[in-house]
Amino acid sequence: MTSADALHDDPRGEISLRRAILRHVAPARGIRATVEQVFITEGSQSGIDLCCRALLDAKHMTWTEAPGSVALRAAVGMTGAKLLSIPVDPDGVRVDVAIRRAAGARVAFVSPAYAFPSGVQLSLARRLQLLDWAVTNGATVVEVDYEGELRADGAPAPALLALDRVGARECVIHIGTFSRSLFPALRLGFAIVPAALVRPFARVRAASTRSAPYPLQAALADFIEDGHWARHMRRLKQATRRRRDLVIAELRRLLPKETPPSVPAGGALFTVHLPPFVDDRALATALAERGVDVLPLSLGARRRAPTRGLILGVGAHTDAALLHAAGVLSHAVREAVSAGMQPARGVRRARSRH
Ligand SMILES: Cc1ncc(COP(=O)(O)O)c(C=O)c1O
Repeated sequence: MTSADALHDDPRGEISLRRAILRHVAPARGIRATVEQVFITEGSQSGIDLCCRALLDAKHMTWTEAPGSVALRAAVGMTGAKLLSIPVDPDGVRVDVAIRRAAGARVAFVSPAYAFPSGVQLSLARRLQLLDWAVTNGATVVEVDYEGELRADGAPAPALLALDRVGARECVIHIGTFSRSLFPALRLGFAIVPAALVRPFARVRAASTRSAPYPLQAALADFIEDGHWARHMRRLKQATRRRRDLVIAELRRLLPKETPPSVPAGGALFTVHLPPFVDDRALATALAERGVDVLPLSLGARRRAPTRGLILGVGAHTDAALLHAAGVLSHAVREAVSAGMQPARGVRRARSRH
């Protein structure tokens, strides 16, 4: 580290890491950009926060997928902007519904490669519809790419920035994170923003945390440039696939047949959908007390159409820990489902009186 490095204070972050991302991380998603456009952030959440601060205030309307990320909702909520929940079907988020309900929205937050948590991909027709809407209306599309190139099998879908659509490069922000590929506590990610937004985004960064710690950024840049990243990703994909298949087989064996796990193609996350009478938040809390961390599906769902379920991932746990967790979870789900299927006491008594 030189004395110049010690004074480093570009609000976009360390140049060597921004270059390494463009050379070795973004190409897997078909993204081409200039180093000027790259901001280092503290994970994807800080990228979302940056977009919120730079683009939104209380008079704006925005939309996102539902179910979707709870943390994203919280960040938009802090700006006071209105956030519409748009349903997701097997072709991804219903862009037609969003355009009908929120044609004048300032920002759309989407995860086209892998909607959280369903894992569905946004179809090409809808991607083009989304970009055309944004170009025509001067809106911004924030692509939150939680998974990045981490697909347990198959190649990841290209990012929106890989599409050759007139005007798309001026309206798409791509947000990536190292939380899944390395680890969440690293708190590093990146945002690739259109050239016209570089200055306003830099002003926001300069007014907040400015930049992640330099030594951490420099170390990650070296890790990527020295080829460790590529090797690590190959091994991680293999390990994720193996762990996922282990857990899925165990869950298929142990879960009640009414609640099989839904496993998106290539995904490292999956969902156990539950009947509407099961309180998924209470079940998640009970599981956490027994050392199994899951996310309730209803947390990020639309209020009017809450879907119940548990979102699971395999992380970096050992096989033994994963098998144990699958057993604990299956037992808890079986109990919750069978308790809910018993007629309530009052109902039974009322029926027996007739
Ligand atoms: C749905 C969802 N929300 C939030 C996060 C956390 O984001 P980060 O650690 O990148 O800020 C992730 C991480 O992958 C995620 O998948």
